[in-house]
Amino acid sequence: MAAKICEGKTKKVFAAENDGSKVIIFFKDDITAFNGKRHDIIPEKGAISAYISSAIFKLLNENGVKTHFIEYIPPNKMLAWKLNMIPLEIVCRNIATGSLLKRLPMLKKGERLKKPIIEFFYKSDELGDPLLNECHLEYIVNREAIEEMKQITLKANEILKKFFEELGFTLVDFKLEFGTTMQGELMIGDELTCDTMRLWINGESFDKDIYRRGGSPEDVLKAYRKVYEAIKERIELK
Ligand SMILES: Nc1ncnc2c1ncn2[C@@H]1O[C@H](COP(=O)(O)OP(=O)(O)O)[C@@H](O)[C@H]1O
Ligand SMILES: [Mg+2]
Repeated sequence: MAAKICEGKTKKVFAAENDGSKVIIFFKDDITAFNGKRHDIIPEKGAISAYISSAIFKLLNENGVKTHFIEYIPPNKMLAWKLNMIPLEIVCRNIATGSLLKRLPMLKKGERLKKPIIEFFYKSDELGDPLLNECHLEYIVNREAIEEMKQITLKANEILKKFFEELGFTLVDFKLEFGTTMQGELMIGDELTCDTMRLWINGESFDKDIYRRGGSPEDVLKAYRKVYEAIKERIELK
């Protein structure tokens, strides 16, 4: 394959052959938590994640939310637009859980929020992804881009909430990363998988929280497979 552009904890990004504006994203079988302190390899996870991410990005693209997704490459790769990534993690929450409960202790775990809460974190493993406020953000991207990311995130949330509800899952929260193309167009990049979304059925997790709470790789795979099967039934990728 062509030159590797970068490698993170769960993916490798390669330059697409003959086209400098595209990349091939390879989903690894790795799972990590607590900033890499827990790590396992789960065979099949890469393929499941590539499919889930591709299907969801396709759904978003078709509903007017721009993502970097171009094509699913079975079993575990995705063709995408090459982005200049913005070092932010944008989290959108519908239901109170996880780290939000530490910031807003008046909320009960599992409580539906009055309206979606959007949070920005600086993407840095060394710093532990610190939470940023609006003043901090201006040192990273301009105001217009912040506003645009917020609007895109909220629109994606509406589409995904409805989609997962129809599949029998509650979309609790999810994390997005954005980037800009060579032409300067802002769009969603990275992935949307069970590693980066919380999905519940009656309060039971079908996402990486299983692993964070000490669940075995087998438990994780079983849950991820259930999400994959449900999505596959609705969105068939060639
Ligand atoms: N379309 C894209 N073009 C270029 N880089 C991308 C694109 N989508 C995602 N990336 C980057 O690929 C890297 C690898 O992904 P990942 O394994 O999730 O890394 P990390 O461990 O930093 O989260 C990340 O830095 C991510 O921002
Ligand atoms: Mg990542």
